Amino acid sequence: MFYSFELEKYLESLLPARDELLLEMERLALKQTIPVVTPAVGNFLQQLVKLSGARAVLELGTAIGYSTIYLARGVCQNGGKVVTVDMNKGRMALAKEYIERAGLVEQVKFVTENLLNYLPQVNEQFDFVFVDAGKSEYPEYLALVVPLVAPGGLLVVDNVLFRGWVVPGSNYDAKYNRMVNSMRDFLQQLAKLPDFTLSVLPFGDGLAIASRSKY
Ligand SMILES: C[S@@+](CC[C@H](N)C(=O)[O-])C[C@H]1O[C@@H](n2cnc3c(N)ncnc32)[C@H](O)[C@@H]1O
Repeated sequence: MFYSFELEKYLESLLPARDELLLEMERLALKQTIPVVTPAVGNFLQQLVKLSGARAVLELGTAIGYSTIYLARGVCQNGGKVVTVDMNKGRMALAKEYIERAGLVEQVKFVTENLLNYLPQVNEQFDFVFVDAGKSEYPEYLALVVPLVAPGGLLVVDNVLFRGWVVPGSNYDAKYNRMVNSMRDFLQQLAKLPDFTLSVLPFGDGLAIASRSKY
């Protein structure tokens, strides 16, 4: 078993205190079993957006806007914006309410559409793309988002270690075989992308960071 709940809780204990809004969203996500990034991953995304100087951020998979708040808090310090996409209308409505309460409406554009229809129509590039939508669609997203990552930009993907089971030698129920194998193939594709350099960080559910060369 490579995924450590204890590690995640320990990392969380080292974070700055989260405001009541984020805590309320965490409770809702837990109650409605909506998968959202862990607080440690959210905090890291905010830092990474800010430190990379990204001004144009694209998020695939909004859910209730939990990760969107971290991305928007990072990008607002650079004077930029987040475009966030989800096809679930109910979740998008909640996300809009939360973003408004967070005072981040000016920093976020919401797109309620299926990514597989939306992405081929996009004709701008982004400094930071965060992928956290349907796991089985990751290979399709990859082909569509690579051209949307600006030179020098970052492509960040959540859940790439899928509870640690992607690591060879781990034990998991055979019913997850397809998902685990598909995530292994996806990571191989990411690792081989020309122009990109990949790092995989083993916290949260596994976070891949692929940076595109500037030239
Ligand atoms: C893991 S949740 C996103 C969690 C969010 N990033 C966070 O951490 O707060 C994944 C979301 O992707 C959305 N999704 C899945 N497949 C999609 C698709 N093809 N187009 C648009 N949204 C999709 C689902 O509706 C779901 O809300």
